[in-house]
Amino acid sequence: MLRVGALVSGGGTNLQAIMDAIDRDNIDAEVVCVVSSKDGAYALERAKARNIETAVMRKKDYPTSKDYDLALADYFKRRNVDLIVYAGFMLILGEAFVNQFENRMINIHPSLIPSFCGKGFYGLHVHEAVLKAGVKVTGATVHFVTAECDAGPIILQKAVDVLDDDTPETLQKRVMEQAEWVIYPEAVKLFAENKLEIVDGIVKRR
Ligand code: GAR
Repeated sequence: MLRVGALVSGGGTNLQAIMDAIDRDNIDAEVVCVVSSKDGAYALERAKARNIETAVMRKKDYPTSKDYDLALADYFKRRNVDLIVYAGFMLILGEAFVNQFENRMINIHPSLIPSFCGKGFYGLHVHEAVLKAGVKVTGATVHFVTAECDAGPIILQKAVDVLDDDTPETLQKRVMEQAEWVIYPEAVKLFAENKLEIVDGIVKRR
């Protein structure tokens, strides 16, 4: 059984999609703990409703970024987590964290990487930038996490149409419904079944 730990900052709809899919599709995995970078994140309620252990760890409570990274890493290590899912996690963690879980962290990003990603591109900002650029197709990407923001090996992508009358909010909703909530659970399933292999920085299916 794959032990999954989640990092969240907000509503947690991606976390919900993963937990639902684990039950529905008999994925051999269990979400064992959920850590939020913010007090009051609704994602915490979703976890508590399933009796999943939760914690709030705020960066501002630690003297340095490295201390924060090390505390998070320690938390997940103590719980023997095999996979860490960034599920709407709005902080970028440094090498002190990512080096300890190489190829065992995945993230969902609400665009087709390498477009509209990197520092400053998160949440609604991504969809605002998409609309400003006038592109007609966007989507979502699941990728392995590395120390470079949104630059790790790509696991799955799904395209979504941009419509003329979209607002950032309507586009965000469509990208979540049509892409994120579909490909994120699928990626967890592939990982749990040990079907993902990284060859020269490119993800291949086993
Ligand atoms: C999702 O759209 C996710 O892709 C995005 O934030 C939203 C979180 O929603 N993540 C990022 O922008 C990370 N760079 P959720 O809390 O309901 O899953």
